[in-house]
Amino acid sequence: MIKLGVNIDHIATLRQARKEEIPSVIEAAKICEEAGADSITAHLREDRRHVQDFDIYGLRKSIKTKLNFEMAANEEIIKIAVDVKPDFACIVPEKRQELTTEGGLDVKSNKKNLADVVARLKKAGIVVSMFIDADVSQVLACSEIGADAVELHTGKYAKFFKENGAISSNFRTELERILNASQTAIQKKLSLNAGHGLDYDNAKQICKISGMNEFNIGFSIVAKAIFTGLATAVKDMKELINKD
Ligand code: PXP
Repeated sequence: MIKLGVNIDHIATLRQARKEEIPSVIEAAKICEEAGADSITAHLREDRRHVQDFDIYGLRKSIKTKLNFEMAANEEIIKIAVDVKPDFACIVPEKRQELTTEGGLDVKSNKKNLADVVARLKKAGIVVSMFIDADVSQVLACSEIGADAVELHTGKYAKFFKENGAISSNFRTELERILNASQTAIQKKLSLNAGHGLDYDNAKQICKISGMNEFNIGFSIVAKAIFTGLATAVKDMKELINKD
């Protein structure tokens, strides 16, 4: 069974639009868990554009499944992670101007620094994942620095699917890259996750990858929830990624 991590950043985006107390991130997480989410993901960005510090501390107390803390390898945020002790930390690159996390982390070029961050988080009892592009050399670098898991960036996969569907050569090439990176992750005994841009149309192709542990999905679930309610949006996705 492929697990489903639901990213609830955009519940916080809506709340921050008015800086009110609704919609509650804590309530949203509870509904997602009751509907079958295996973990809840929240990204505390350096600019605090959506999720706030109090959300992370509140989620840590209320979540009954697993808390996946998405974070940049930044000193302030590392200190918060060590204090909160989420079940998982996913290290991502972060740029102030981007709308969302645009590319994977370059682990290969920053091995020394990232090995130190991984060691600090692991020492706090946190399982550490690296958000990387589907590139075999990046997977190998993650293994070398002692990461527990990789999350393969499916942004390009989703973009190519949207442009020309599953038969386009760009899409097939990207899927092949994801397959190769996945195989390497499994060989290196890294837990294998994927996410970014996955939705109710494009997720089908990628669920067939053997050894896939978890998808992290946010935007498409929250967008669908506006029309169907959050519980239905989560249930439908959980079913879809586990259909034969
Ligand atoms: N995984 C990571 C590391 C991300 O940065 C994001 C976006 O916040 C997601 C998964 C979820 O992407 P989406 O919101 O497009 O489903």
